[in-house]
Amino acid sequence: MSPAARVAVFASGGGTNLEALFEALDTHPAAEIVLVASDREGAFALERAARRGVATAIVAHGDGPSIIELLETHAIGWVVLAGYLRIVPPEVVRRYRGRMLNIHPALLPKFGGAGMYGERVHAAVLAAGETESGVTVHLVDEVYDHGPIVAQRKVTVQSGDTPERLAARVLEVEHELLPEVVIAAAEGRIRTKDDRAWIEDE
Ligand code: GRF
Repeated sequence: MSPAARVAVFASGGGTNLEALFEALDTHPAAEIVLVASDREGAFALERAARRGVATAIVAHGDGPSIIELLETHAIGWVVLAGYLRIVPPEVVRRYRGRMLNIHPALLPKFGGAGMYGERVHAAVLAAGETESGVTVHLVDEVYDHGPIVAQRKVTVQSGDTPERLAARVLEVEHELLPEVVIAAAEGRIRTKDDRAWIEDE
């Protein structure tokens, strides 16, 4: 069996996706989270990592060389952005091209881009009268919320939904989809061709 892929998770907030990933990888040997990084000291994601004895780091916004050094020091194979609210410096994107994932709480390319995070996303979905929203996991490129889409899962918009209610149902699906994609990544089952990406079956 090949050694577990070494994963770094970047998170700015609560880190429920990080927690879902920790739990999935507890029983799955393909990958191991060895580093959790954040742009802010108080991020609860850091606390989740510390409780598990996983290394944590604060990364200065925009400091590409030091982010690359940090990732290389920890021999990181895959980077997962899970609620990371900063733009990843282009040199880091280049170094980890095809090995960096982002999760977004809508069906990209709709409802993504600068300013589209948190409840704003779900409020925009409802304001547009969409009948469905969902979750996207994509490979990261130099453009925010852009890059080859690896997997998407739909969530039906219900009558009477508020941004909070829709967010909660979307988040449940995020917690399923992100571990699936990270495990596929660790097992070498993400394929890319031109601007497309997909997961090959086990
Ligand atoms: C998630 O909705 C994720 O899709 C988005 O930021 C949120 C992070 O939530 N990028 P959490 O910190 O994992 O709870």
